[in-house]
Amino acid sequence: EKGTYPFYMLKEIDEQPLVTRKIIQAYQDINGELTIDSDITKAVSEADRLYIIACGTSYHSGLVGKQLLEHIAKVPVEVHVASEFVYNMPLLSKNPLFIFISQSGETADSRAVLVKVKELGYKTLTVTNVAGSTLSREADYTLLLHAGPEIAVASTKAYTAQIAVLAILADVTAKVNGIERNFDLVHELGIVANAMEVLCDSKEEFEKMASEYLSDTRNCFFIGRALDYYVCLEGALKLKEISYIQAEGFAGGELKHGTIALIEEGTPVVALATQNDVNWNIRGNAKEVLARGANVCTISMKGLETEEDRFVIPEVNELLTPLISVVPLQLLAYYAALHRGCDVDKPRNLAKSVTVE
Ligand code: F6R
Repeated sequence: EKGTYPFYMLKEIDEQPLVTRKIIQAYQDINGELTIDSDITKAVSEADRLYIIACGTSYHSGLVGKQLLEHIAKVPVEVHVASEFVYNMPLLSKNPLFIFISQSGETADSRAVLVKVKELGYKTLTVTNVAGSTLSREADYTLLLHAGPEIAVASTKAYTAQIAVLAILADVTAKVNGIERNFDLVHELGIVANAMEVLCDSKEEFEKMASEYLSDTRNCFFIGRALDYYVCLEGALKLKEISYIQAEGFAGGELKHGTIALIEEGTPVVALATQNDVNWNIRGNAKEVLARGANVCTISMKGLETEEDRFVIPEVNELLTPLISVVPLQLLAYYAALHRGCDVDKPRNLAKSVTVE
């Protein structure tokens, strides 16, 4: 039930702090330690490479998941769009594990890959929100998101839930393999949940930003580097699918290799700056578009902020920033769509689960 909310999407954005806390609990043992079925961590540890297969928003969470699994668990990961992978398979490693990320667990493109790699005899793990879904039943192993039903077509809480669960998978795999971690993930995810709450309480600010930057624009660019780049892809997808504003996410350094030609006087460019190592670089990229007339909206993280930034998100562990930097982008998309009179929960031409290839 959406209760007092005008749209499910807003309700589901607001549920993210709670879902994050629920996930922590769901994956804790009686001693409060994060835990995952040992068959799964064994399968991850034994694989020489993980292949994450997904579509749309789930693909975007997979990109973040790759960074988490590589940084924390030290396993090499490739991330592929399901519809491409199935007919255009790369050379596989000797002992791969396939990880399917799917909110619904019913996406036909992802299932086509699952069927194919099972035929080839490979092990499979599905990360899904729906227990008993097709992808969950057909894979060797399942991890559940515990996000509760997601009704709005535009995925929000499933995206953050996917990242949180992949972080836990990375952390527990590292622990099992005796790889040292320099943070306590339960504690860090708790900080994330609190930060999400702060952002959900700043809705008025994001509504103002949406009208300032997006009220009568035809297009919008999102730029970021490293993890911020992946979040930019997701922010752009959210904006285009519900507001019909043409939106693209770019790696900050890539813009000058062509796309910068599209920047005109007043073109909105949302720049994410939450990554210490590339903070200087992304700010340079923001200056490049500013000099060409762009209406730059920089969203940075506490500790990395400068005076020109439009919004500063609370500080969280640098590997977990996508869990919170996506929230302003979800809300910007929501308010941009709302102001344009769009049906936020049911955008045109889209279905919640895409069961055709
Ligand atoms: C975007 C969106 C879609 C889905 C995609 C995969 O907001 O919801 O891009 O992420 O269709 O769906 P699942 O995760 O159910 O496989």
